[in-house]
Amino acid sequence: MTVVRRGNENFIKEAEKILKDGGLVAFPTETVYGLGADATNEEACKKIYMAKGRPSDNPLIVHIGRKEDIENLVEDVNDDAKKLTEEFWPGPLTLILKKRPIIPDRVSGGLDTVGVRMPNNEVALKLLRETGIPIAAPSANISGKPSPTNAQHVLQDLTGKIDMVIDGGKVNIGIESTIVDLTEDIPKILRPGHITKEMIEKVIGKEVLYDDSVKSKPKAPGMKYKHYSPKGILILLDGTYEQIVRYIKMKSQMGIRDRIAIITTDKYKNKLMDTFLGISIFSYGNGDAEEASKKLYEILRECDDEDIKIIYSVVFDKKDRGYSLMNRLEKAAGFRQIDLDREGI
Ligand code: TXA
Ligand code: MG
Repeated sequence: MTVVRRGNENFIKEAEKILKDGGLVAFPTETVYGLGADATNEEACKKIYMAKGRPSDNPLIVHIGRKEDIENLVEDVNDDAKKLTEEFWPGPLTLILKKRPIIPDRVSGGLDTVGVRMPNNEVALKLLRETGIPIAAPSANISGKPSPTNAQHVLQDLTGKIDMVIDGGKVNIGIESTIVDLTEDIPKILRPGHITKEMIEKVIGKEVLYDDSVKSKPKAPGMKYKHYSPKGILILLDGTYEQIVRYIKMKSQMGIRDRIAIITTDKYKNKLMDTFLGISIFSYGNGDAEEASKKLYEILRECDDEDIKIIYSVVFDKKDRGYSLMNRLEKAAGFRQIDLDREGI
């Protein structure tokens, strides 16, 4: 039985009891919804893996309600960590540091490090602060599917498998936190997010690298798995509006009769609707990567609801927040991207 409570109801006592009994509570954060368990309870954390169908070598992020709580979880809060938490917490930034023994191996996927973050969401902070429990929480979706950006998405994936969902409405950011590994001399971004490389470099005053090992062995175990994927095939189209129209027309003339969707921006939405009757047209908004990030997972889930078989999406410039958006889009597409210039379209 999954109980749903609105974030403005008195949900804390109920959630606290469930967490203390080793149960699972899904809750909103500013990035995506998390599926939480008491991070110090190994058995409870095991249930997270079962509910999500998540590989056991993929570690969980531990959420805290106060900056100083990090001291209990990691061996050494180094200078970079201090500067980053000062500037960006509460917020969409996860720090990887050497863990203390209080973190069970189940949470860290067998690694000697742990990811910690303080979310910037009123409901999440209330839950964390009033219960005082460090909460291990991955995104609250079935493994491999797009992360949930509202409570309905969580219910779609996990009803009956978890004990409670706290409904805090739509999330603010829409893609998962930036993960920075601070265990080596040079900080490395293991997963890009809303807090960009430039923002981090400015605060710690030195160069930060992206984890470029993604294609071989990424340092964040989760980055090697299929991710964020809709049921249909997502194909990224890199080209002008005219090229995109020509390409899709060509494909439909080739007799493809599967249900098709196009994800575009407001500027072209109506034109595409007039051009392609019977094709579902979605919009990322005004073309800004930040707004698109907020909508991406919801659109991919809507495509699933409509049983779309082929989804064409426009691409974004890989700079600033476009970088993290494209990271999710490329993974959701399994790196299927067509350069329409090169194809001579
Ligand atoms: O925004 C977020 O971070 C959301 C919300 C709920 O806080 N959480 C989230 O968790 O995205 P999850 O489990 O879906 O993704 C966590 C990622 C995985 O790729 C995992 O491999 C990586 O973080 N990770 C966790 N602990 C790690 C560690 N100690 N070392 C390297 N990577 C780690
Ligand atoms: Mg996830």
